Amino acid sequence: MMEIYMSGPWITEHEEKVVLDAVRNGWYGEKAYWYVETFEREFAAWHGRKYALMTPNCTSAIHLLLAALGIGPGDEVIVPECTWIASAAPITYQRAKTVFADIDPEHWCLTPETIAARITPQTKAVIVVDLYGNMPDWDGITKLCAERGIVAIEDSAEALGSLYKGVRAGKFGVGSVFSFHRTKTLTTGEGGMLLLDDDKLFERCKFLRDHGRAPGTWYNTEVTFKYMPFNMQAALGYAQFQRINELVERKRWIWRGYKSRLVDLNGLLWNPEPSGVTNSVWCPAVVFDEGLGITKEDAMRDLGEMGLPSRPFFYPLSSLPAFGSRGEWGQQQNPISYSVSSRAINVPSAFTVDDEQLDRMAGGLRKLISSGS
Ligand SMILES: Cc1ncc(COP(=O)(O)O)c(C=O)c1O
Repeated sequence: MMEIYMSGPWITEHEEKVVLDAVRNGWYGEKAYWYVETFEREFAAWHGRKYALMTPNCTSAIHLLLAALGIGPGDEVIVPECTWIASAAPITYQRAKTVFADIDPEHWCLTPETIAARITPQTKAVIVVDLYGNMPDWDGITKLCAERGIVAIEDSAEALGSLYKGVRAGKFGVGSVFSFHRTKTLTTGEGGMLLLDDDKLFERCKFLRDHGRAPGTWYNTEVTFKYMPFNMQAALGYAQFQRINELVERKRWIWRGYKSRLVDLNGLLWNPEPSGVTNSVWCPAVVFDEGLGITKEDAMRDLGEMGLPSRPFFYPLSSLPAFGSRGEWGQQQNPISYSVSSRAINVPSAFTVDDEQLDRMAGGLRKLISSGS
């Protein structure tokens, strides 16, 4: 029996050929950044954005944008209580204050109401995360941010290929970011992308990305970052991007595979796809209804004993040592995040997952539910 992997890419001969071309030929003259520039241009166009800047990873893309927006000490930035730490870490890099807001129990993202509850005169921005491929109420969030003079940033790291009312994830807010980490739907091993529409913001981000060099000169006018991408990394991303529909469809196939096998069981909430949304389901997650009495620790332990892998749903960030282990306080502030996170796991969605593996995983989940843990 093949091992079931949580995550991992789908690399074909096409990617091998394109990367080989970059290794062999992508070093001199115009070819040195050909794959970077082509990938950036086509990725931006596909999302209906004017500009794209590739970065070493998604975390640096968020950092670049916060720095370009001038966010710093004394400013507050709102983030969801439940997300990967990378959504929030760049706020700390900029010495600004991280403010956690609660998530929605159905789609696990921020809502206009939970954001509004955290706005103060110091609030400069909100980083809205399309968690696990799910889409929040972007209409409501866009309206709120416009009314309150707050910048919205879309962390679409997990939502490549998702749609909200026909608009692609990555087209919301002043800028959006993607991750091409080894575990993502489209991978470059490590890599990220920042999408923008505003001319000035783009120029500022580009400048900050490469040691503060004045455009068209060799002069460094500020000490900034070195967040440049490289051609081989971009070649892999570009080749993967040419297969984007196939990659997203396979992710959706895995998600449907779990749901269809367990359709008769009550009390399981999978990544939702409400009307108006297409969910690209980077990672299938399942929340156990409170009535089932199953915690994420129970589920991971029991599945593990059956030889089946799973991972914890994102922990509430305020509960983590990195943010001061403020679990009791966080639970009062953001009770839905704490409740959902305590009853949810991620299940395997590597591109190697097949029907036989889905059967085994579904069998394990069924056993877990029937034993009530
Ligand atoms: C929601 C979210 N934001 C940001 C990131 C950061 O991506 P990266 O690892 O490319 O820096 C990730 C993934 O790791 C993520 O899941």
